[in-house]
Amino acid sequence: MSNLSFDFTGRTVVVTGAARGIGKELSRQFREAGATVFMVDFDGAELDAAAAEVGAKAAQADVSETEDVERVVATAVDETGRIDILVNNAGILRDRVLWKLTDDDWEQVLAVHAGGTFRFTRACVPHFRAQQFGRVVNVTSYTGLHGNRGQANYATAKAGIIGFTKTAAKELAAFGVTVNAISPNAATRMTASIPEEKIAEVTGPIPRFADPAEMAAAVAFFASEEAGYITGVVLPVDGGLSM
Ligand SMILES: NC(=O)c1ccc[n+]([C@@H]2O[C@H](COP(=O)([O-])OP(=O)(O)OC[C@H]3O[C@@H](n4cnc5c(N)ncnc54)[C@H](O)[C@@H]3O)[C@@H](O)[C@H]2O)c1
Repeated sequence: MSNLSFDFTGRTVVVTGAARGIGKELSRQFREAGATVFMVDFDGAELDAAAAEVGAKAAQADVSETEDVERVVATAVDETGRIDILVNNAGILRDRVLWKLTDDDWEQVLAVHAGGTFRFTRACVPHFRAQQFGRVVNVTSYTGLHGNRGQANYATAKAGIIGFTKTAAKELAAFGVTVNAISPNAATRMTASIPEEKIAEVTGPIPRFADPAEMAAAVAFFASEEAGYITGVVLPVDGGLSM
């Protein structure tokens, strides 16, 4: 039984960064709500196991590589005849104070977060336009909204995703496409290195990290047909952290 009350039967969904964490749980819930789900990750072994567990299709790809991205979108359209929902969730961290960041730390983080979000959205646009329907849900961060020590590269990338979300929302609205973003705060590999005594500082009034599955309700809402009049929104799903 799905946790989601939206029905995604007949929908084709692509979730990036889906081998683990938030992306894996989003994939599971879209699958349980009836969608055909393509789970994208560059970590092939972990991805295959996750896709088998979820009952979805594994699409190994690096979101920062245009050829990979276009291959995944073409495969989804070839196999299902459509692509309806794109969740740009893949992410990496290369944290250091800004005076210690290397060019590579900077470029990699921007290439995955901002570059991947742009590349996947661009590849979907012709199909969304032909269908006159599409839903894009991007994943930004508290850091993109407010900054965070040690994360100048990540903050720039995640703030960039907010600008991209609003611009894409304006450009694609005429084609029945909405573009929104969530700002999560969930216990995943990405948060595992935060020491126990620091957790209170990085959680909100609700004093815990969410389970990654708790991100799914907001994503499903934005992805639903019913939310067609909501676009360009950044919704914190963070226990009140960004209030
Ligand atoms: N966990 C949180 O509290 C939190 C807070 C704010 C934002 N976010 C964002 O949520 C998203 C998911 O994070 P998570 O916590 O589940 O992290 P995670 O590390 O558990 O999962 C991220 C996934 O992205 C994949 N990935 C990384 N680079 C890739 C690439 N180039 N191509 C394809 N796949 C790639 C990784 O292999 C991994 O499976 C990220 O964009 C992250 O920045 C998470």
